[in-house]
Amino acid sequence: MHKLCMIGTGYVGLVSGVCFADLGNQVICVDQDKEKIKKLRYGISPIYEPGLDEILKKNINDKRIQFTDNLSEAVKQSDIIFLCVGTPNKKNSLDVNLSYVFKAAKEVIKNSKSHKIIVTKSTVPVSTGDQIEKLIKKKKISVISNPEFLREGEAIRDFRFPDRIVIGSNESKATEIMRSLYTPLINKGAKFYVTNRRGAELIKYASNAFLATKISFINEIANLCEKSGINVEDVALGIGSDNRIGSRFLRAGPAYGGSCFPKDTKGLVATGKKFKTDLSIVNSVIKSNENRKKFLLERIPKILGRVKGKSITFLGVTFKPNTDDMRDSNSLIMIPYLSKKGARIKYYDPTGEKKEFKKIKNVEYAFSVNQACMNADLIVLHTEWDEFKAIEFNTLKTKKTCKVYDLRNLFDYKEMKKKKIKYYSVGRPNLN
Ligand code: UGA
Repeated sequence: MHKLCMIGTGYVGLVSGVCFADLGNQVICVDQDKEKIKKLRYGISPIYEPGLDEILKKNINDKRIQFTDNLSEAVKQSDIIFLCVGTPNKKNSLDVNLSYVFKAAKEVIKNSKSHKIIVTKSTVPVSTGDQIEKLIKKKKISVISNPEFLREGEAIRDFRFPDRIVIGSNESKATEIMRSLYTPLINKGAKFYVTNRRGAELIKYASNAFLATKISFINEIANLCEKSGINVEDVALGIGSDNRIGSRFLRAGPAYGGSCFPKDTKGLVATGKKFKTDLSIVNSVIKSNENRKKFLLERIPKILGRVKGKSITFLGVTFKPNTDDMRDSNSLIMIPYLSKKGARIKYYDPTGEKKEFKKIKNVEYAFSVNQACMNADLIVLHTEWDEFKAIEFNTLKTKKTCKVYDLRNLFDYKEMKKKKIKYYSVGRPNLN
């Protein structure tokens, strides 16, 4: 049993904290947001993550997890302190804002009386651990990097069955403590890799940038497919079955979004600049993703002919399914743009209404798919929630001429043609 402290109860801190508690550790989660702490104490999770509520409640009942806004007390009671605070980009910049990380690190150092291990779980640029280490004067504190590879919506499974656990450490004793913390997962088959601290910091950025590259690559191939009468899914299957390439993350769709890929590709380029290394591929990926956003905006007027006065329905607005996260979702660009062009927008999302659209003109939330699609001229399938996969478009009370633009290729385009639905998708032949 280890005594752990998680600083920050966002996706990474909360999911990891709850899952570490479930492995039998004693966990204290700290957040400066008092409201959040109050709710968490009652077992109410501030985020939507499948399976999280159940494990949260169970571990509160079993007294393995506690929540507090008192950082100094939490640090005193713990041996391993995880920094899980946000690392957003600075405004209009590629640089990463590390102020939350350093603020938390300073507090931890100040309140450490005995030997502690500080672990950065937040995604931090290469050499951040070195900078934290410089803040430690004459105290016995080890600084470790342990990047997180959890996907939103699949975070619990990713924690319990990780592809790998990466520890970046320059001290063998601290490495062994980290190994013992992860032993239950290692015993179930998880790979455990140890590198130096900077190596682990870079592994995280390079992983996300590589996955973003795969997505941008297939999205560009999808554009070529659309113009040349080829199905991008055939191409993804054909290239993905080469083990050197691999089939995952080759689903063409909108621009990649979320709280990680857009931020981390930029963060990696900034790191390249710092170390005077040209990362031209990552730079191109960022540009390609920006182009993708423009491409989608231009596509809708092409499908509809004229946007002004048209009723457009969005099904799903989050950046991916099984999450309520709106960060860097394509809908944040598409909906305001279409509203400005004079369209009336209705949207439905399984995670409810979004504050981001409350002040946008002509945008209305609907409580069901049926209600959202009423009188629609165009239905945009924006996010691939399972519940959208069974929609029978012919039974919806849309306009007779209603078209469907499927950004996630949820439906078989030949079937849609048979059903006489005007159907548009991504990187597949247009049969209209
Ligand atoms: C991503 C990584 O997958 C995690 O390993 C990592 O831990 C996390 O970032 C992080 O750094 O914290 P996440 O952002 O939750 O996880 O979501 P993904 O499932 O990776 O999707 C990211 C974006 O790529 C979404 O917009 C998704 O729609 C898009 N995507 C994904 C595609 O367009 N095609 C694909 O084939 C896969």
